[in-house]
Amino acid sequence: MSSLHLRFAIASDLHIALPQTIRRLPQRLHLVEFSISAFEAALAHLAMLDLDFLLLPGDLTQDGEPDNHRWLQERLQLLPFPVYVVPGNHDVLSPVPTECSIGASEFPDYYRNCGYRDAKCLYYTQLLAPGLRLVALNSNQFTADGRQLGRIDAEQLSWLQDVLAASGQEQVLAMVHHNVLEHLPGQAKHPLGRRYMVDNAAELLEILHTAGVQLIFTGHLHVQDIAHNRQLYEITTGSLVSYPHPYRVLELESDRGGELKLTIQSFRVEQIPECANLTEFSREWLGDHSYPFMHKLVQCADLELSETETEAIARDLRYFWADISAGDAVFDFQHFPLPVRQYFSTFGALDASGKPMRIDNQMQLALQARTGCNPV
Ligand SMILES: [Fe+2]
Ligand SMILES: [Fe+2]
Repeated sequence: MSSLHLRFAIASDLHIALPQTIRRLPQRLHLVEFSISAFEAALAHLAMLDLDFLLLPGDLTQDGEPDNHRWLQERLQLLPFPVYVVPGNHDVLSPVPTECSIGASEFPDYYRNCGYRDAKCLYYTQLLAPGLRLVALNSNQFTADGRQLGRIDAEQLSWLQDVLAASGQEQVLAMVHHNVLEHLPGQAKHPLGRRYMVDNAAELLEILHTAGVQLIFTGHLHVQDIAHNRQLYEITTGSLVSYPHPYRVLELESDRGGELKLTIQSFRVEQIPECANLTEFSREWLGDHSYPFMHKLVQCADLELSETETEAIARDLRYFWADISAGDAVFDFQHFPLPVRQYFSTFGALDASGKPMRIDNQMQLALQARTGCNPV
């Protein structure tokens, strides 16, 4: 690979909602009311950074409303750097259009300036620079009865294998909305966590491992987390409309010996015109609204607690989801009974031996040279 120095950014789960489209849902954990201001605040910072490109891994809109998609694609065209998107579950609620939202079939046409060249295909590949390729996947599928499902279909997996086989020694950045690696303990089987994952993640992972892919960018969970499995790092970025309103800036550069180094920095939108102290307001908002979710989380943990104990612990977890969302948290609830304390400590940013490992927000990693693709 020739010498490379690129700077790019990731902003996820923008959930853009123009004022006239906002649906008031009392249980909603994220603040779509602030979506445009939060995105504009992030863009104001990114405009100063001389970016090579911006990645948006899905949930671009509140709920797939045509007005919100139109506003966003027009806004993206005004940016001085290329933008690449994939659809999230909130962008394509059904295969075909409904009264209130666009259909999955229309998504590529809206974003034909953001990676999509074929109006009929929901995935694509793009050469970002000599030796660096983006593979943008669609993880939104629908069951026969119309339910949404996080999955990569067989045709797309076959296409992916062909693209990776043809990519030779190029470094590959994969982008998809749903998680591929677990970001929470036992996420793939957890009743509350599994819907955030690609349900055939093992199949996809095997293809990525075999081809030597080392980086995958996801969203959907609204949590800042970096997980790894062998040489593959999955960088999931929190939502611009929920605490702590993060986005990331990454530098990819080769040193004199040709080694590639990736530096990841994370930033937060801390204030917007509607809210001078967004960080504190949003943390309290999550505290105020996460009790039902925390109650379910305690119930699902099978800790043999009475209803009174479950309620007390769920109340004590007021800031737990905010801390998870921010990444890099370590938990030690000393006043909880030992099994409960042990269970919640497993959500912390720990290495395999249980020591704190804070890599979710700031991190540097060395990429191995890709030797090409072995057929699966
Ligand atoms: Fe989302
Ligand atoms: Fe999502």
